[in-house]
Formats: sequence, C-alpha cells, structure tokens
Amino acid sequence: MLTQLQILLFCTAITPIFGIFGGKTAELGQFPHVASLRLNNFHFCSGSIISEKFILTSAYCKSRGSIELITAVVGTIHQVNGGDHYNIVKYLNHENWTQASLLNDIAIVEVKTPIRFNKFVQPIRLPTKLFDDKGIATVSGFGTVSYPNVPSKYLMWVDQRILGLERCRIANAPVIVYDSQICSHPDAGQGICEGDIGGALVMDGTLIGIASKSTYYCGSGLHDFYTNVYFYLDWVTNNSN
Ligand SMILES: *[C@@H]1O[C@H](CO)[C@@H](O)[C@H](O)[C@H]1NC(C)=O
Repeated sequence: MLTQLQILLFCTAITPIFGIFGGKTAELGQFPHVASLRLNNFHFCSGSIISEKFILTSAYCKSRGSIELITAVVGTIHQVNGGDHYNIVKYLNHENWTQASLLNDIAIVEVKTPIRFNKFVQPIRLPTKLFDDKGIATVSGFGTVSYPNVPSKYLMWVDQRILGLERCRIANAPVIVYDSQICSHPDAGQGICEGDIGGALVMDGTLIGIASKSTYYCGSGLHDFYTNVYFYLDWVTNNSN
C-alpha cells in the first residue's frame, strides 16, 4: 500500500513545482547548513547544522517518529536524491516546549558519526547579539510548495521582512507573541509551510531563527513565526557538548 507521502511524491513528479511558497530554487552550496530530517527517508522537517555532531531544529517535529527511523541528510538540494545520510542518536526537545503556544520551539538532533564538511556541507554561525528587527532575512526549506501538502522536489528559499515584536503583537492579539519569537511579514503567496518547520532563518550569515509556524494557511500573507535562537544560546551550548 502506498503511504500518503509516497503518493504525494509521485504527484510532485508529474506536477510543476514552485516555491517554499513563492520561493526560488536553491543552488547546491548556497545553503550548506541545511539538513533534511527524514523518517524512512521521507522528508518531514528541516534543520541547520551547527557543528560536526549537532543539528538545530524545531521541537514540533519530534512527534514524527522514533529516532531509529530518522536520518539527517545534508549536502543536497534534492528532496529525494543524493546527499550524505547520517543516523541520529538523540532528538532532544527543550524541556519547556509547549505545543499549544509554540513557546520554546527548539530541539537539538545529534548525529551518530561526525558530519563531514565540504563546499556543500558547512555549519552555520550562531548569533552573538540580537539582530536588527527591521531587517530582511532568508529562509530555506524543502517544505510544501502549494496547499495542501505538495512537498518540494528541490530546496527553495525566500526573503522575509522581519516585523518588530510590538507590531506583531498588535496584529496577532489575542494570540500571545513571546519575546523569544521572531515574527516575519512575508508577501502574500510567500513564506514557510509544512516541511519547512525547523529550517533556518538567516541574516548576515547567522542563524537568527528556527521556522516554527505559519499563520492561518501557508502563503496567506499573514505572519510567519520563528524561534529566536539568541534566547536559547545557553540551552544550545549546554546540550551540544
Ligand atoms: C523550564 O521551566 C522551569 C520552571 O519555570 C524552569 O525552572 C527551568 O529553568 C526551565 N528550563 C529551561 C531549560 O529553561
């Protein structure tokens, strides 16, 4: 019996594909920190390489399966082919991760053997200060490119305007927006979607955010939410040694 994912992958083979939602196709080596987290070799979430042994991702993704069935694939822009595959030995969610509010949506994945770095596989720098919240940042992922649920054949990327937290709070009330979140304001038809979750939001070569959720429906033009990595530097350090 075909799983739902296999059917979807079959569909992508015959359907023209666009975006991370309104994005562009990445070139090999453009985002060398990107990891595809796969369950039985089917992509379910994205992550970012931060060292030879550790990948940063979203806590929301952990529910997708037992770690023996999960691999991290790096060094490819294809969702299905190529890349280096690593087994994982740990998938650690933040202890105060809360699904309902998405507070503390951060997790660390440990690979079994050290990731080999090259031109197409590199760790990304963690932030050393709070970023400029009026800037533009880039998100990339293998996530859904049209709704519902058409996974992308290629790694895609799009630029996002960062929205200051105060404006984000006003726009999203009564939903609580935490200091430890980053809010972006994509143009209509752009942004993150299922499968992009856990992926990197990058500004000036630094991992500032982890893709956490898109509002309402993907590409709605409403806000996307990211976990602000700067708030979790101690947690990351304590759990990646
Ligand atoms: C989780 O929450 C508890 C209770 O508020 C707190 O003591 C603890 O430090 C938190 N853990 C982390 C890793 O922030």
